[in-house]
Amino acid sequence: MTKVMFVCLGNICRSPMAEAMFKHIVRQEAKDKKYLIDSSGTSAYHIGSAPDSRMRATARQHSVEMNHAAKQFKKEHFQQFDHIIAMDESNYRNMIRLTQNDQHRKKVRLMRDFDLSVDGSPEVPDPYYGGDEGFEEVYQIVKRSCEELFKQLEE
Ligand code: 4NP
Repeated sequence: MTKVMFVCLGNICRSPMAEAMFKHIVRQEAKDKKYLIDSSGTSAYHIGSAPDSRMRATARQHSVEMNHAAKQFKKEHFQQFDHIIAMDESNYRNMIRLTQNDQHRKKVRLMRDFDLSVDGSPEVPDPYYGGDEGFEEVYQIVKRSCEELFKQLEE
């Protein structure tokens, strides 16, 4: 079993989208029994909330199923997961601050390390305060990155 945790700030936009996308890919590839996939946020702002309605609408437009209740990233997750994927540099730093050893530190990566078309920013931009186009951009980045992440994990 390969265990993957996606992490953003609020756990209502980017990381639940990444969780939904990765689940979508493994289901399509008939590999869903091989993976445990989850998401969380570094903040406690939205604990218990469903994903943002704008992110849900974008996922629905692309026929990607999204079901998640927001939760906060916890130190215990370093033991429970094999790969912990941060959406931006700030999420990455906040998690590294919680790590207590190198073994756990090595599990933490940036989502866009897996985006082969990255041009400049290594981050998945936070769409929360922007317009609808930001959600479509998140969707496209997360899709490309999850496809490559899946490919690398299967190798
Ligand atoms: P996310 O987006 O980290 O992709 O879930 C955000 C959601 C909420 C807030 C910020 C970012 N907020 O400040 O409440």
